[in-house]
Amino acid sequence: MEEAQSPMLKAESDKGCKSCSLCPHRLLAARLGAMKLAIVGVGKMGKSILEGLLRAEMLEASDIGILDTPERTQQVALETGVQPLRLEDLRRCERILLSVQPKDLATLAPQVAHPNTGYISIMAGVSTAVLSRRLGTRRVVRCMPNLAATIGKSSSAITGPREAEEAGDLEFTRALFATVGDVYDLPERLFDAFTGMSASAPAYVAVVAEALADGGVKQGIPRAQALQLAADVLIATGELLRKKHPAVLKDEVSSPGGTTIYGLAALEARAVRAALIEAVEAATLRGHELGREE
Ligand SMILES: NC(=O)c1ccc[n+]([C@@H]2O[C@H](COP(=O)([O-])OP(=O)(O)OC[C@H]3O[C@@H](n4cnc5c(N)ncnc54)[C@H](OP(=O)(O)O)[C@@H]3O)[C@@H](O)[C@H]2O)c1
Repeated sequence: MEEAQSPMLKAESDKGCKSCSLCPHRLLAARLGAMKLAIVGVGKMGKSILEGLLRAEMLEASDIGILDTPERTQQVALETGVQPLRLEDLRRCERILLSVQPKDLATLAPQVAHPNTGYISIMAGVSTAVLSRRLGTRRVVRCMPNLAATIGKSSSAITGPREAEEAGDLEFTRALFATVGDVYDLPERLFDAFTGMSASAPAYVAVVAEALADGGVKQGIPRAQALQLAADVLIATGELLRKKHPAVLKDEVSSPGGTTIYGLAALEARAVRAALIEAVEAATLRGHELGREE
């Protein structure tokens, strides 16, 4: 059925059905009207962004469509009330958020490339130049959130060419990612560094937390309690670091001849700073490599 639908069909689709997101009325509405946003890939990140924008009421559920594997599409649509889409429905979407793995882009791009659509990608290492080439448009925005998007505390970097700015895609993306945390405009040449530092940091910090807990367990603290203490101290330190320079905080905790300075000396002996700097560098270089492979 095409857009110039019969009045009866229109009335049916307008009625909608609040009780079931998969009922024919809603499917019909999804296929007939233009949709403001489609999310392709509702895995960890895609689903978190979807939940963030619904929570913030940035868009109505009826204005959002999703596409993943058939099972996952149905499951997430049922959970959230957004529209389950098929590939052919994407041409009616004003903007498409691509939140699949970078390796899936080559196959996916020709299937989702439509004129007059704006694209937002969160795929690590995929440049706006590659997105433009594969999607056949300059209306592309590159965004890099991090796992904290799952709890609404992401730091997300965004960039895009003039065409994306003029079409309102950058503005839309800023608003979209503001629903899951803070948003920063960043020159694209710094994206791999941002990815290596901010987007990868939850993994580095998780290793620190686990190692701290191991230290506690080694000294006799029960595992569950040690893990809880490690999480608590990271959260509290994060809050303090919003107000204080790290060096000031470190100096405040380190009384002369006290326990903390002994612990710090042990960390310095193991070159923990150098290890973290190297981790960011290695992840940044890997980002360059992945970009080149595209
Ligand atoms: N996780 C992070 O911390 C993080 C941070 C920043 C950026 N990113 C980027 O975000 C993107 C998504 O990451 P993620 O962690 O959310 O991955 P994920 O959990 O694997 O989610 C990706 C989803 O897309 C689906 N998918 C694959 N091919 C598809 C296709 N052709 N059409 C529709 N759906 C398809 C996958 O299904 P299958 O599982 O069946 O393949 C999966 O459900 C990646 O590009 C990653 O680089 C991730």
